[in-house]
Amino acid sequence: MTASTLRRVRVAEIERVADEIKRFRLIDAGGAALPAFSAGSHVVVTMHGENGHVWKNPYSLISAPYDGSSYEIGVLRAAGSRGGSMFMHDHVQPGSELHISEPVNLFPLVGQGSKHILVAGGIGITPFLAMMRELAARNSDFELHYKVRSAERGAFCDRLAAQYGARVHIYRSDRGMSLPLERILAEQPLGTHMYVCGPAAMINWAMHTGRAAGWPQENLHCERFTAPSPGKPFTVKLARSGRDIVVGPQQSILEALENNGIDAPYLCRGGACGQCETRVVASGGALQHNDHYLTEVEKASGEKIMICVSRAAGSGLTLDL
Ligand SMILES: Cc1cc2nc3c(=O)[nH]c(=O)nc-3n(C[C@H](O)[C@H](O)[C@H](O)COP(=O)(O)OP(=O)(O)OC[C@H]3O[C@@H](n4cnc5c(N)ncnc54)[C@H](O)[C@@H]3O)c2cc1C
Ligand code: FES
Repeated sequence: MTASTLRRVRVAEIERVADEIKRFRLIDAGGAALPAFSAGSHVVVTMHGENGHVWKNPYSLISAPYDGSSYEIGVLRAAGSRGGSMFMHDHVQPGSELHISEPVNLFPLVGQGSKHILVAGGIGITPFLAMMRELAARNSDFELHYKVRSAERGAFCDRLAAQYGARVHIYRSDRGMSLPLERILAEQPLGTHMYVCGPAAMINWAMHTGRAAGWPQENLHCERFTAPSPGKPFTVKLARSGRDIVVGPQQSILEALENNGIDAPYLCRGGACGQCETRVVASGGALQHNDHYLTEVEKASGEKIMICVSRAAGSGLTLDL
């Protein structure tokens, strides 16, 4: 994805759907139809703040995949936000203009799955909203297991229960309800796929539970939303141009490059797709790999880095850019 592939959209509607969660409906600013997407897709939303500040955050598409009249996203105002989700909540109004990338799907449904178990925690419900529409349209068998802190913090709970009835199971932490995943997985027919999205600890637990229950790795799927914690500032030397770029504590390498007018490829900006993989020419210390893409062996070799999430733990590094 680069700046030239961005689409200008206008915010047509904003709805508060839970504490700290808003739904935004986006239409093409020129009135064109938006392309169909597959359930599980996200778009990268570019936000222009004051003083030239730009944020680019991925958000899952929650609307009907084949409805080209608008796209909808659901955004949590992240605690300790570095700005993007706070900007969406505090500054974006109906009529505001934003830019979005074309939809990209790194969390697709598996077509031949005999059944689909969707496990969501908190804002991790978003990709499943489009998935459930697609599964219902295909007449596929599915269940949603959705863990929320409380009724006030759980987005879309009533709507989902009304629309999908007994397929929807909601577990409220404030009522001490736990998600009995071990039992749920034990009851599924062969060929069932599990999909998980939510806090990192929940994803790790669910994937571990699936593996421990003997499910094949290819039937277990997850999408991680969380951006890594900030780190110390460091300098990146670009081997081809000889330029030095300073990466601030609250910035990714990718953002620092973009702020200096250097376009680098990306799709997810979350360490999952591999698009921003960059060769490390030299490094003045260890690398802090925060991605979910490189293997442990690749990470240990120090030869590559995913510049959307990973950092230099030392004074700096030289990249093949
Ligand atoms: C595929 C995908 C889909 C998502 N879908 C949703 C959704 O539907 N709803 C939702 O609310 N959220 C979603 N997210 C999370 C969302 O993109 C943002 O991370 C979230 O809104 C919080 O953003 P923030 O700017 O408020 O704060 P933060 O998450 O604190 O900051 C994010 C910023 O940190 C930067 N950053 C990344 N790595 C580093 C690093 N190592 N050091 C310093 N800075 C770094 C990023 O470039 C980004 O600008 C999704 C994420 C992904 C990857
Ligand atoms: S853009 Fe997807 S891993 Fe970096």
